[in-house]
Amino acid sequence: MTNPVISATGLFTPPETISNEELVASYNAYAERFNAERHAEIEAGETQALEPSSVEFIEKASGIKARHVMDKASVLDPETMCPRIPERANDELSIMAEIGVAAATQALEAAGRAPLEVDAVLCAASNMQRAYPAMAIEIQHALGIDGFGFDMNVACSSATFGIQTAADYIRAGNARSVLVVSPEITSGHLNWRDRDSHFIFGDVATAVLVESSDMAPAGHWDILGTKLKTVYSNNIRNNFGFLNRTAPGSSDTADKLFVQEGRKVFKEVVPMVAAMIVEEAERLGIDPHTLRRLWLHQANAGMNRLIAQKVLGHEATADESPTVLDTYANTSSAGSIIAFHKHSSDLAAGDTGLICSFGAGYSAGTVFVRKAA
Ligand code: COA
Repeated sequence: MTNPVISATGLFTPPETISNEELVASYNAYAERFNAERHAEIEAGETQALEPSSVEFIEKASGIKARHVMDKASVLDPETMCPRIPERANDELSIMAEIGVAAATQALEAAGRAPLEVDAVLCAASNMQRAYPAMAIEIQHALGIDGFGFDMNVACSSATFGIQTAADYIRAGNARSVLVVSPEITSGHLNWRDRDSHFIFGDVATAVLVESSDMAPAGHWDILGTKLKTVYSNNIRNNFGFLNRTAPGSSDTADKLFVQEGRKVFKEVVPMVAAMIVEEAERLGIDPHTLRRLWLHQANAGMNRLIAQKVLGHEATADESPTVLDTYANTSSAGSIIAFHKHSSDLAAGDTGLICSFGAGYSAGTVFVRKAA
């Protein structure tokens, strides 16, 4: 059996960012306008007035200070409060494929890999721009890869599920080089008019090149083991789908966007993920206390603090459990990969770490890796 490794990663970061201050000013302008327009109903007790959002709350509750987005102006405009990305003709590269290709090209260049040496492309993300043809096939075509591609969606865990799928192809001999691409335009599924969650997400694209060890470049990461888990929960949900063609603007569109019971998610996911990491480490013969670095899913700084503490047995330093939440916010499946991409080059040969995702489903994935010489 061939051993799968991570040969390289790539990252596309949208140039535009929104600070908490800008976000809160936009939300509060919307809330003030909402309250003024419904003044009589609010006075009569028929409608609940909207409370203002606050920069202090957002940073304290989540650790998020800013986020990157594909269309800042439309997100911040209190009239629209969602990205307005113009539709493109069928013969133009679609926007999800475009940012996926940017991240993938970086990963290929970092590995010194020509597209024709790649066998497969998995587009693993929490939202696809369309039903078909698959985003992965468009990315494959744009890169000039001769092989196959398909899309997979496991919400925030899409990238780690993609890594295990790629690793399994390599272990089974069905492929030697697989690109796992995660373009996450989360601004499109976020309800920017919902005070409880309007600060959560940001846009990005990542790529991970998973390959057979015998063709990998020096300094790659050996994949020691992968483990996936899902447990059904409605606490993070999005009812958007091809069977509900609700007219835009009608009153029942809110559940066709991201909704969550954030407190329940926090309470239920932290112990589930910590136990899964410790069990899997033991199965692989790794003492979790000796892990050099954790690249955790980036949803909430408090969740990561608790998970890291349970795994490492002490409060993690920023070096042991780096965060990208402050500048990227939650980028769904891309979060742990951004953390790995930005905070792994300083590790030495023999260092062992963990890429770990968790989110809607519930779903969770662990990828234990060790830096090769
Ligand atoms: N500005 C100011 N206050 C706000 C606010 C905002 N934007 N949003 C909520 N509040 C208020 C609430 O109204 C509530 O007030 P009350 O105590 O007077 O009722 C208070 O702040 C606490 O709200 P709550 O939603 O319970 O906050 P929290 O501490 O649980 O933090 C999350 C919210 C979402 C950040 C946190 O629960 C979380 O991160 N959960 C996990 C989410 C996750 O990982 N999801 C996965 C997505 S892929």
